[in-house]
Amino acid sequence: KEIMFTGIQPSGSFTLGNYCGTMCNWYNLQKKYKCFFCISDLHAFNTIQKASKKYKFFDKIFDLVALYLSCGVNPKKSIIFVQFQVHTHSQLYWILSNFTYFGELFRMTQFKKKKELLNNKEIDLALFCYPVLMAADILLYKTNFVSIGLDQKQHLELVQNIAYRFNRIYKDIFVIPKILIKSIGSKIMALQEPKKKMSKSDVNIKNTIFLLDNIDLIRLKLQKSLTDSDKSAKIIYDTRKKPGISNLLSIFSSITKKTIFNLENEFKYTKYSIFKKNLSDVVCDTISNIQKSYFYFRKNKDYLIDIINLGKKYALNDSLKNLFKIYKKLGF
Ligand code: TYM
Repeated sequence: KEIMFTGIQPSGSFTLGNYCGTMCNWYNLQKKYKCFFCISDLHAFNTIQKASKKYKFFDKIFDLVALYLSCGVNPKKSIIFVQFQVHTHSQLYWILSNFTYFGELFRMTQFKKKKELLNNKEIDLALFCYPVLMAADILLYKTNFVSIGLDQKQHLELVQNIAYRFNRIYKDIFVIPKILIKSIGSKIMALQEPKKKMSKSDVNIKNTIFLLDNIDLIRLKLQKSLTDSDKSAKIIYDTRKKPGISNLLSIFSSITKKTIFNLENEFKYTKYSIFKKNLSDVVCDTISNIQKSYFYFRKNKDYLIDIINLGKKYALNDSLKNLFKIYKKLGF
């Protein structure tokens, strides 16, 4: 079976963007691929832990394992593991940093944005090298496919370049990973400002739906979402002229797996308010099912510990084999 790898930072707040961008596909991806679902806590350390000393890593890791399970990851089929428990990631990271150029990392738009947020002060090395750790995550497992949202595309292209570069010198050691980005839902936008991405760190909480939000609040946020004031007032997918409605259609399509074409036909002559009511029903139904199983799994800590211990075993086993091959090629 070919290999699929993906990861999320255990930030404690997971959004409908995370779900529509990648998680809603996970159940089906498992039918086709051997899947690795990483809890990317080393990545989170840079962005989250440092900002808040009260941050309890282990709690957040269990939160995310429980969420993975409630989004349909089957721990009997797939590997769920915690990044910091598998030391090979940090080891390959160092090797790969020898094959990554300063200029390439400097061009990463996420880095540029975060740099601006910090007013260009105290920008640490880890923030800068963040995509190289992603490269290590992915290349360690001979990954064929990586499922991500659009905001990670640039990082993934860099990963591909690092792998190409390495292969040119050391002859086909890495598999070049292919990027899996959904045609619809790969960039869910902020509900009040549909020209910018829905983000967990948005100051306006009306912009973001959190997967663990109260269900009534989710309904309210959707019903109050900004729609477009063009003349037609029709439910049509057109991201330029109708960014608000297009965003809601993308959410609808991701949740129900209905095509945009079918949704447009279904709702073409429907009022915005009725469309939003239908959308809220399907979103709330899906999220409330996720929450039910989330709280069930989250209580069962021993079970979650068993899962990550098993995941650690498999991930270490597979990645160590590959890491030794790489070390050998390099002459160590
Ligand atoms: P993270 O934790 O920021 O986001 C997790 C996933 O959610 C996607 N996403 C979105 N998709 C659609 N619309 C949105 N508004 C939206 N917001 C977030 C992201 O694209 C991502 O797929 N560095 C990564 C984690 C990571 C990783 C990896 C991913 C570490 N190693 C290896 C893939 C492979 C991150 O911070 O994702």
